[in-house]
Amino acid sequence: MISFKELGLVNTRKMFESALERKFAVPGYNINNLEQLQAIIIGCGESQSPVIIQISQGARAYANQTMLRYLGQGGVEMAKELGFNIPIALHLDHGNSFDLCKSCIDSGFSSVMFDGSHLPYEENIKITTQVVEYARERDVSVEGELGILAGIEEHVKSEEHHYTDPEQVEDFVTRTGLKELWSNSNCAGSLAIAIGTSHGAYKFKVEKEEDIPELRFDILEDVRKRLGNFPIVLHGSSSVLKKYVDMINQNGGALEKAFGIPEEQLRKATQFGVSKINIDTDGRLVVTAMVRKYLAEHPNHFDPRQYLGPARQELIEMIKRKNKVVLGSAGQAKYIN
Ligand code: G3H
Ligand code: 13P
Ligand code: ZN
Repeated sequence: MISFKELGLVNTRKMFESALERKFAVPGYNINNLEQLQAIIIGCGESQSPVIIQISQGARAYANQTMLRYLGQGGVEMAKELGFNIPIALHLDHGNSFDLCKSCIDSGFSSVMFDGSHLPYEENIKITTQVVEYARERDVSVEGELGILAGIEEHVKSEEHHYTDPEQVEDFVTRTGLKELWSNSNCAGSLAIAIGTSHGAYKFKVEKEEDIPELRFDILEDVRKRLGNFPIVLHGSSSVLKKYVDMINQNGGALEKAFGIPEEQLRKATQFGVSKINIDTDGRLVVTAMVRKYLAEHPNHFDPRQYLGPARQELIEMIKRKNKVVLGSAGQAKYIN
């Protein structure tokens, strides 16, 4: 058993306090491999942004859970070596059981999500409560979820949006202990809500960008009013940048009608008090676009460093830009101590 504190990681408490006070969102960037981690450390280090490194169950299965934990630790050491003074949290994304959350807490994660959004309400409350109780003793933050996002949410597929019901949020955060965790502990409770975002590259069934609907800011506002000063999380918040979709398609790919959440809407969400924004798909698109382009232009190259190097560099640029113009997290690390 190892605590995140021994690894140089921090939990999300101070990041969220600062995010709520200063109206920005902390980025939750997903990793599956070394290059993604390096890009996140350099991108967030250079833009002086706090960061939550996210590991999904899929990532654990792909890269080996122990390896990923050491990668997280390696990220902290790399940041130190490069002179970046930024808070780094290691977070389980979409944990689907108490045992998985416990195993991550015991192996050095500083934050876990229990995603019981697809479960019956009482069952979601029961398991989230168990996770909160275990995490609290160890100063580990917990993210719960209410409302199902359309698209693919780990093992859950939903054709339609099931928006968060604002009438349930107070009951949920109170009975699970998430509220108490936020108001009276050394770690953080937070809540992911569904307001029209979804996972993956196909977020809307529309023909063109102009037809993308607005997020349900009315629900967000209502939830904010009911929860007060409490961290709210948005999943499925990639913008599916046209530049990279086009680059993929121009180099042998076939992504059609791929649309994401417009950046202005995410920016607006940060002004409504969203404290964490999850981004995975945009990073995947950047890497795929750059690798496809590089290999199309250099058919005789075969060293992974040749094509992964430029992909990593572009990912760094994307992260810096997002932190600055979308999340508002750039430059905020110095206010968090
Ligand atoms: O929320 C889901 C993340 O994008 C992780 O996706 O399960 O394919 O690793 P994954
Ligand atoms: P995207 O698929 O929009 O990047 O969402 C990622 C996410 O929510 C990870 O939990
Ligand atoms: Zn998610």
